[in-house]
Amino acid sequence: MSDSTKKHLSGKMGETPFQTRILGTGSYLPEKLLTNVDLEKLVETNDAWIVERTGIRHRHIAADGEYTSDVGLVAARRAMEAAGVTAGDLDGIIFCTVSGDQPTPSTSCVLQHKLGARNVMSFDLNAACTGFVYGLTIADQFVRTGMFENVLVVGAEVLHPFVNYKDRETCILFGDGAGAVVVGRATEKSDSKVYSAHLRADGGLGELFTLKAGGSAMPLSLAALERGDQYLSMKGREIFKHAVRTMSDVCQQALDANGMVMSQIDWLIPHQANLRIIDAVGKHFGIPPEKVVVNVHDTGNTSAATVPIALDQAVRDGRIRRGQNVLLTAFGSGLTSGSLLLKY
Ligand code: ACO
Repeated sequence: MSDSTKKHLSGKMGETPFQTRILGTGSYLPEKLLTNVDLEKLVETNDAWIVERTGIRHRHIAADGEYTSDVGLVAARRAMEAAGVTAGDLDGIIFCTVSGDQPTPSTSCVLQHKLGARNVMSFDLNAACTGFVYGLTIADQFVRTGMFENVLVVGAEVLHPFVNYKDRETCILFGDGAGAVVVGRATEKSDSKVYSAHLRADGGLGELFTLKAGGSAMPLSLAALERGDQYLSMKGREIFKHAVRTMSDVCQQALDANGMVMSQIDWLIPHQANLRIIDAVGKHFGIPPEKVVVNVHDTGNTSAATVPIALDQAVRDGRIRRGQNVLLTAFGSGLTSGSLLLKY
């Protein structure tokens, strides 16, 4: 059996006792905006260049003292309210982030405490911008095996402390925000389900996107701070090409695994890193732009939060309706990538 065949089979979910349904979604964007014009005052750039090359017009920035657990908390509460579940109904919390409140305890545990969801499984998941797609895949496993009934999956980032506002290649891209879903068991009447998930990582390309300082390999030191190693750093052009290729590949895998074609997908929700990347993936499949959920002009790249924010916005404004096929896809540092196809 070839490697690609194995991946197809492992990604398609077999018959299990339960199907997973997204019970509710929520999101939150901090009030403060950082506009392209604001950035013109910090680095040599301009609004026209940023809009043309990225599609981003502004990003939201968390207030002083507003941490990743806080933005995640607002999104989580909104998702729980939409789902009609209380903290006592939750069996687990998966917090997808690269910008946790601190290395330990996990931001998931901080959130669990703030929610008052005592003694439920809680852990952080770092798959960078693909984090939410990974997290939702894991939550689906818990639900479909019957181990858990209700799992909260949060994608939340406060990235601005990790952005070097003297580096014009990165500082124009990133913003803060959070999205969340509560997943639970589909009832017999509902046909909601996760069809399949396809997750990848290529650690050999890890150098393309890094934040080097603060781990065991490079503890924070004066020298590290002077070099700027506490900030995100990337090779943008290479990431761009990789992003288009891998998101197209994992979406094709999702279609193949389910014997579907792209015209059967009602909504594509790609990671929001750059409008040109989103457009290139859309063109690859010939998808009408109105079927692709895009909010990067308003949010910038919020890493693990982009997909659940876009999902929540499209659910709340009535675009995504029950019974529709929704394809999520993302790529990120690692380099990670993934797709998850669901019937909403
Ligand atoms: N303002 C003005 N000029 C700029 C800016 C800026 N902010 N940034 C770069 N430039 C200049 C460059 O220096 C270069 O000048 P040169 O031709 O004189 O050398 C020129 O613009 C073109 O640079 P490119 O890097 O080729 O520009 P490109 O069209 O590739 O756009 C960008 C750069 C926006 C970074 C793009 O490559 C991109 O979005 N890549 C993906 C990045 C990404 O998604 N990162 C996160 C992925 S992982 C995650 O999501 C956590």
